Parts: sequence; structure tokens; C-alpha cells
Amino acid sequence: MIAIGSDHGGFSLKQEIIGHLEERGESFRDFGTYSEESCDYPDFGKAVARAVASGEYQTGIIICGTGIGISITANKVPGIRAALCGDCFSAEATRLHNDANILALGARVVGTGLALKIVDTFLDTPFSGDERHRRRIEKIES
Ligand code: RB5
Repeated sequence: MIAIGSDHGGFSLKQEIIGHLEERGESFRDFGTYSEESCDYPDFGKAVARAVASGEYQTGIIICGTGIGISITANKVPGIRAALCGDCFSAEATRLHNDANILALGARVVGTGLALKIVDTFLDTPFSGDERHRRRIEKIES
């Protein structure tokens, strides 16, 4: 189950990603925002991050204009590893190495086509499970 959320800057890209998730047959919940009216990215970054940290959702996708504010917010929630990705290499590596549980995107940075490829890469790449990566992830929280 995927939790997805954005601020107004990410709203349009969120709608594209939702359509893509539906085409993929993914289960998801949209935590808002639900229009392009100006709002505060922490509200939606926190909602998605808390949903993932609770264990009810396995993966999150968060979007703001740059992806920066909303990823900073999500990473304040214990247990969250939110990765801001602007390319597919990073999306693959952060799943393999960091077991990232939230993908952050900047809607004013990446085009829709690239964003959807990044989403696919993130969702389709499993954590490597390597001992060295487990050790490093444990050190993030300690
Ligand atoms: C909103 O204008 C913008 O500041 C926000 O979407 C994001 O880029 C913040 O990091």
C-alpha cells in the first residue's frame, strides 16, 4: 500500500502519478492536497511520513515544488528514510542501499515522463539486504 501526498506545487504531478499508479494496479491513498490552492508542504509531508512510519503503508511518495521542503519534513519522523530523487540511478541506489521508504520528487525540477520512470524504478527495486547496508541504516537511527 502506497501513501502519496503533495503541496500545491506538486499537485499536478501528483495527479499524473496517481493515474500511473492506477495503471500499474497499485493500492494507494491520497493524503492531499486536493487542489492548487496554496498550502503548507509540512502538513502533507508529515501525514505521509506518519502513515509509513506506522507500518500501515509500506511506501510513500511526496511531492512539492523542489522536493526539498517536503523531504526535510518527512525525514524528521523516526523510521523514515525519504530520498529526494531527480534521476533513475539515484532511485535505484536508494532502494538498494538505503532501503528508502519514501520517494520525494520536485515537480518544478523533473518533467512528468522522468518522474514516472523514477517512480517505477523506486517501486520495482528491492532493498539489497546486504549486511553492510543494514549496518549503515541502523546507524542512521542510533
Ligand atoms: C511552494 O512555493 C514551495 O516552496 C514548495 O513547493 C517547496 O518547493 C518547498 O520546498
